[in-house]
Amino acid sequence: VSQEAYQNLLMSTPKPGVALITLNRPKSYNAMSSAFMAEINSAFQSVEKDKSIGAMVITGNEKAFIAGADIKEMKDLTFSNAYGEDFIEPWSLQVSQIKKPIIVAVNGYALGGGCELAMMADIIYCSAGATFGQPEIKLGIIPGAGGSQRLTKVIGKSRAMELILTGKNFSGREAFDWGLAARVFETPQQCVDGAVDTAALIASYSRIAVKACKEVVNKSQDLGIREGVEFERRVFHGLFGSKDQKIGMKAFAEKQTPKWEHQ
Ligand code: CAA
Repeated sequence: VSQEAYQNLLMSTPKPGVALITLNRPKSYNAMSSAFMAEINSAFQSVEKDKSIGAMVITGNEKAFIAGADIKEMKDLTFSNAYGEDFIEPWSLQVSQIKKPIIVAVNGYALGGGCELAMMADIIYCSAGATFGQPEIKLGIIPGAGGSQRLTKVIGKSRAMELILTGKNFSGREAFDWGLAARVFETPQQCVDGAVDTAALIASYSRIAVKACKEVVNKSQDLGIREGVEFERRVFHGLFGSKDQKIGMKAFAEKQTPKWEHQ
């Protein structure tokens, strides 16, 4: 994981197998300009390709994860530019194509596109005082990176409708109570540490099995239960062709710790 290519991101490997991407555009609360989105994507892609990394954590600072798309950059956008250049689409498609697990550690504001990026990730951790929201209605627009769909799926139509129509924020504690966040922490540092610990645990397993887990869980979002279960079984059967299945089960039978070959 190299720092060189990035101006607004800090890249580190806090534990073996874990990449930590820290968003570092603090003056604008990590608002996502198109250049910043391109940097975030490029970081995801390079971590995806890095064979030493098994899982990644993305976080901001104590004040903001991301305060949304960059409103100052967006304000003069025209319909023909937005439509013609598929504004936002390439970015969100690229994020959703990442196959390694992404854990997001949300502290401070996760508004608009920030809340949407968190929901594109695989696991959300947050601190109790984090502030989530889809405030686009206040700008005369609507969520544009999946917010109306993903938030509604997770927290239910009535709650999502209320939040999106009023533009009201909700806290990290509420995000946890409603099932949007997997864990809630008292402090921002505990949140980042917790995310790194979970990423390290995931990175300690077979990369092949981890990739398959992410793939099958994500399929549940698109398929009905019957096709989803069939898809899961095909992938499950396929894993008996991996070396790591033999390594994992042999180690269990011999009361040893498995040494994964990621094959
Ligand atoms: N875009 C551009 N700049 C932003 C920004 C954003 N989304 N959010 C914050 N900033 C900038 C502010 O303009 C300000 O810059 P200056 O110092 O140059 O004036 C700086 O960050 C600090 O912000 P505030 O002075 O407003 O700080 P605050 O503590 O009073 O408030 C805040 C913080 C509640 C996050 C407030 O800045 C805010 O409401 N931001 C906008 C949030 C928003 O509407 N996000 C949705 C964007 S639309 C979107 O994301 C579309 C989509 O679905 C993809």
